[in-house]
Amino acid sequence: MRWKFWEWATGLPFARSNFATLESPRRLPSLTSLSLAPTMNGPTISVSLNSPQFLARNTFISSSKLKTDTSRRSLGICKCVSSPPAEQTAYTTKVSRNANMAKLQAGYLFPEIARRRAAHLLKYPDAQVISLGIGDTTEPIPDIITNAMAERACALSTVEGYSGYGAEQGEKKLRSAIASAYYKDLGIDESDIFVSDGAKCDISRLQVLFGSNVKIAVQDPSYPAYVDSSVIMGQTGLYENQRYSNIEYMRCDPQNGFFPDLSLISNADVIFFCSPNNPTGSAATREQLTQLVQYAKKTGSIIVYDSAYAMYISDDCPRSIFEIDGAKEVAIETSSFSKYAGFTGVRLGWTVVPKELLFSDGFPVAKDFNRIVCTCFNGASNIAQAGGLACLSPEGLKAMQSTINFYKENTQIIMDTFTKLGFDVYGGKNAPYVWVHFPGRNSWDVFAEILEKANVVTTPGSGFGPGGEGFVRVSAFGHRENVLEASRRLSQLYK
Ligand SMILES: Cc1ncc(COP(=O)(O)O)c(C=O)c1O
Repeated sequence: MRWKFWEWATGLPFARSNFATLESPRRLPSLTSLSLAPTMNGPTISVSLNSPQFLARNTFISSSKLKTDTSRRSLGICKCVSSPPAEQTAYTTKVSRNANMAKLQAGYLFPEIARRRAAHLLKYPDAQVISLGIGDTTEPIPDIITNAMAERACALSTVEGYSGYGAEQGEKKLRSAIASAYYKDLGIDESDIFVSDGAKCDISRLQVLFGSNVKIAVQDPSYPAYVDSSVIMGQTGLYENQRYSNIEYMRCDPQNGFFPDLSLISNADVIFFCSPNNPTGSAATREQLTQLVQYAKKTGSIIVYDSAYAMYISDDCPRSIFEIDGAKEVAIETSSFSKYAGFTGVRLGWTVVPKELLFSDGFPVAKDFNRIVCTCFNGASNIAQAGGLACLSPEGLKAMQSTINFYKENTQIIMDTFTKLGFDVYGGKNAPYVWVHFPGRNSWDVFAEILEKANVVTTPGSGFGPGGEGFVRVSAFGHRENVLEASRRLSQLYK
């Protein structure tokens, strides 16, 4: 860039052959500045030359060339400045960095994986990398759903069909369709439902609702957004020994059937609980969720129940926390169309905050959440909401289920592969994730080994919390041929 700028500014190609010394060959170290400005005799040049990189080019300048060539442009003052270290020259504002941001560890997990994948591709440009890592959907959205979105989009071009801002809480029809598709007979009605641009965004809005003065508990391992949003809100202390202080990490491992020992939680206000769980793929049973609800009631905590994968459940585990008696008084549920309808890019989700849920002073949580939504959000895209409504029509529900079944078949292929290779494999049955145990190994090392030797991207378990060490998560979101090819490569690698 630097050299390009020089050429633009001076009209001189920045090639060493064009340069001679200013006065009989003299090296630049004695020259610190050269200015270029219009004068009666033509421009003068100003160059700041204090960087070692610049000097290292062993550069020489031809004065005669400068005279002729610079006159081709009419210039004001022009500076060709080599790049000194940013910290020496960068302008800084008076605003101090949010100390909570400084507590966060490295990058958020998935951008970090994307970075490593990019680095791998830089090293092996021809590698045919297959991603079973980030957990993004790959299959086309059923056309019953995209047709509805297209229709709504086209209607926006008509006077009758145009609509601007909608209700922050979502369109009444969609809220009502969500209530009847997922909460029928559970005592949840449309007014308890807040339509959103996705569950991740709602997790952050819920953290804003709770503020900085609460302590959260999370399953360990768990989806990283709960912990990171807690850090950003200032609910935690510093990170030490793979944990933030003031967060309760509820260990979920094969020994406890991936359900935490609740008696070990000390004093959490808000319990984030995801079932089926990302990353372990395990779903909590009715008995386990009953225990959780009873625990919350006893301790006065609020459960934030993430059911983003509920439609992947194929046994009789509950699909909603509200299937459990008493949950409406202690729980919020957040969910999403992302992994059901391939809406990871379209963006549509919802959060249920029952009227029965009250703060310690008796104030309804839903009223405050409504205030947060109205302040921080302007409602989900009307086009996405048209898609959501189509998802919940009888044909849409069928189409979503068939996409889910496709991913579930992928899951089976991945589980079979690792099982045949002799690994202990968890999850898979009720979720699009397979949780593979590599006992005694560092999960980032396993991630790197699989990427390096099989060109397959997975997710290192420790990225989901200290309890994920020794595991990798393999996602079933992928085209069938890629899943089969990845399985073939993994079988080769670990045979
Ligand atoms: C457990 C869990 N919750 C929420 C989300 C985010 O969902 P959305 O795309 O609706 O923001 C994900 C995405 O991977 C997830 O795994």
